[in-house]
Formats: sequence, C-alpha cells, structure tokens
Amino acid sequence: MTFSARPPAKVNLTLEVGEPRDDGFHPLRSVFLRIGLSDRLTVRQADGERDVLAVGGPVACPVEGNLVLRAASLLRQRAGLPLPSLAIELEKHIPLGGGLAGGSSNAATTLELAAACWGIGLSAAVRLELAAAVGSDVPFFISGAPVALVEGRGEHVRPLPGVRGRPGLLLVTPPLEISTVAAFARFDDLASRGTGERETDELVAALEAGLDAGALAEWTPILRDANALWPAAVRLEPALAELRDSLELATGRAWAMTGSGSSLFTIYPSPDEAAEAGRRLAADLSGALARARLYATDLAGPDPIWRQP
Ligand code: C5P
Repeated sequence: MTFSARPPAKVNLTLEVGEPRDDGFHPLRSVFLRIGLSDRLTVRQADGERDVLAVGGPVACPVEGNLVLRAASLLRQRAGLPLPSLAIELEKHIPLGGGLAGGSSNAATTLELAAACWGIGLSAAVRLELAAAVGSDVPFFISGAPVALVEGRGEHVRPLPGVRGRPGLLLVTPPLEISTVAAFARFDDLASRGTGERETDELVAALEAGLDAGALAEWTPILRDANALWPAAVRLEPALAELRDSLELATGRAWAMTGSGSSLFTIYPSPDEAAEAGRRLAADLSGALARARLYATDLAGPDPIWRQP
C-alpha cells in the first residue's frame, strides 16, 4: 500500500532567542505559522535491504543526510522490530536554506507515513520524542497545529487559535542559503538578545483574543523587527539587507524574515492581493530579486496561489 501526504512549510512570525544552554542549543520563543507551500511525500514498503529515498520536483535537494531517512531510521530503532524497507519519494517544492523548515516538515510527515505503512501505533509522547530527536522544528509539524507558540529548543508546542479569514503571504526566497548553525553562532557574538520578546507576548495575546486576516496583515511592521536572528543573518549575507530595502521600496510594505533566513515575507489581507503584488514585483525584477523564487500563498495550501518561476 502507498501512503502520501503534502508536508507544508512554515514561517516564524516572531523569533526570540535566549542564551545558549549547556547542550549548545538556544532556548526559543517563536510564533510558528503553517503556510500554503508544500512538498509531496510518498512512502511504500519495498523489498530492498535499506530504505531508499528518491528526490524529484523543481527544487534540488540532496538525498545524503536527508532528515526523511533519519526519521525513518529513528522510528525503526524505536519500534525495535524487524520491519520492511521503505521506498520513499519526495517531490521538492519548498526551497532549502530558506528558513521555511521544509526538511523538518518532511521528517514529521515521514514519521506519520512510515508508522502507517508499518502498522505501528505511536502515542503522542513517543511521536513528540522522535520528532524532537530529528530536529528542533519537527515537533511543530507533528503537532498539526496551523499556528503555535513554540518554546524550549522547539519541543514545547502550544497550539494557538487559527487566523480567521484567508490572509495572503508574499514570500521571496533569494538564492542565498544561510546555515542555521552559522546564524546561531553569529547571534552569540552579537548583542541582539531581547528582540522578539514583547512582540511574541503581544502576538500570542492577539491570536488568543481572535485575529482576522486584515488584522494579521497590519502586524507586519511589528513582525519586521521581531526576529532576533536578523542581525546575524545580515552579517552573514549583507545582500539580504539590500534585498529587504528594495522589497520595501517596491511594495510600500514592511517585510520580515523567517527563521535564520533567507526567505522574507509580507502579509496581505487576502491571497489575491498577495498574488497581485507578486506579479507587479516580478515585472520589475532586478539585482538579487532576478534570481529569487516568489510565492503568493494562503495558509491552507497545499500549493501557492501564484509563483515565479
Ligand atoms: O535541531 P536542528 O538540527 O534544526 O538545529 C540545527 C542547529 O541550529 C543546531 O545544531 C544548533 O546549532 C542550532 N540551533 C540552536 N538552538 C535551537 C535550534 C537550533 O542553537 N533552538
């Protein structure tokens, strides 16, 4: 039997980062938002001796070191039973190194689909434990929450009420891959602690009180300065600051960064407005934007409303 799903991407609406812990990880407080840009993952039992991953689709992605294989292997170890090999196909649409957590989302979906394929029931606690062992962003995706406050290393996920209505995101992923490890290391050298703390508290309160699409779009100027990794990302890739300046000039809106970059986003009250702004931007592409990927998405997906290329 074949099991298929569409693992989605996320953006960080806010990202507060604390002092590194003894294990080297940084405590986070971040509002994660699932967005309508997804990969496609298919899992079936196979005859070979090892799990095999085949990657296709418009975005190039290495097989070696892929979190999909790590997730399958951790689940097999945890089950402690002889289990058949898996043939896994990944159709990649979510850019890599863009702060969109596509690899983590793929890993979360692999845990679900491989468990189904092997007929293993997983308690919520074991799912969370395996997810956290694969990577810091995986527990958010395992939770299935459309929006959540994520804390600790990423393992504490508090689902929040979803946004009412249908906001539109305009997302730009430049051809700059920022390593998460390098961004956190650079963060430690800079004094940007405290960024995102107040914004995270206020956004959580606003979501809990009920936020609609138009009101979320009005948060963008606040989100712009609520990512503690922005100064580190710009030190690593100064072109990111130029890109944000030109996006803000061209659209007349504030743009925020997700995760450790390199994707930037702004929020509109509707997907149509996001797509319209994307088309205008694409007609005027120059500099770093010329080689960027652009997406207008809603929050449900699975696919963008509009994209370029
Ligand atoms: O857990 P994950 O593999 O996604 O993390 C990648 C790297 O990012 C870690 O090795 C660590 O250097 C950094 N990181 C961190 N604190 C976090 C999450 C990630 O320092 N909460």
